[in-house]
Amino acid sequence: MTGKLISFVRRKVFRIDKYRWDYQYATGQWNGLKSKEMQRLNVARDFLINYTLGGNILEIGCGEGVFFQNASGVDYSFYEAIDLSEVAIGRINKTGKSLFVAADMEKYVPVNDPFAVIVFNEVLYYSKNPLDLLRKYNQYLAKDGVLLVGMYDTKKSTDIWLGISKIFCELDSVKIQQDSKAWNYKILKLI
Ligand SMILES: C[S@@+](CC[C@H](N)C(=O)[O-])C[C@H]1O[C@@H](n2cnc3c(N)ncnc32)[C@H](O)[C@@H]1O
Repeated sequence: MTGKLISFVRRKVFRIDKYRWDYQYATGQWNGLKSKEMQRLNVARDFLINYTLGGNILEIGCGEGVFFQNASGVDYSFYEAIDLSEVAIGRINKTGKSLFVAADMEKYVPVNDPFAVIVFNEVLYYSKNPLDLLRKYNQYLAKDGVLLVGMYDTKKSTDIWLGISKIFCELDSVKIQQDSKAWNYKILKLI
């Protein structure tokens, strides 16, 4: 009871994001979406194959590791990933060539750079300043490295894509339609 009350106060009174995400994962609120997400990620996976080419991958906001699972056949040297939620990180089935850290993307400093691909799958909407966040991580890319950004179509993501188009060029893109919803995945390089 005390644990539940503390969690409630942290989420609802102090509105601390980490505890909100931990609660959502602990109570299985994202479980139902996984199989649909895997279908979408099969398409995004081709981007990983084409742009990783044996280099390192960094994933920001990896959740329970759905994208990592999807990358199992990709030729990479090392997979580093972070998420705000310790609960989500704790559920990932880790393999040898990987590092998973519970951390805030606004503050994190990667340790295995440079990266061939840095992935932001359905996480940019949670940043207060997504363009600054992309610029921050862009400095950890290898010379030919790229950012892979995926977002669900909403008014907010449309605004973020517009901002992105002013400072990044788009090397590749795909729109994935599922039921009545749409997701865009883009490969980006700073102009
Ligand atoms: C919609 S979920 C997507 C998870 C995963 N990328 C996927 O597609 O399955 C958003 C994720 O962003 C994470 N997140 C939100 N704010 C964050 C922050 N400041 N730093 C790191 N991760 C964050 C959440 O914990 C959550 O796992």
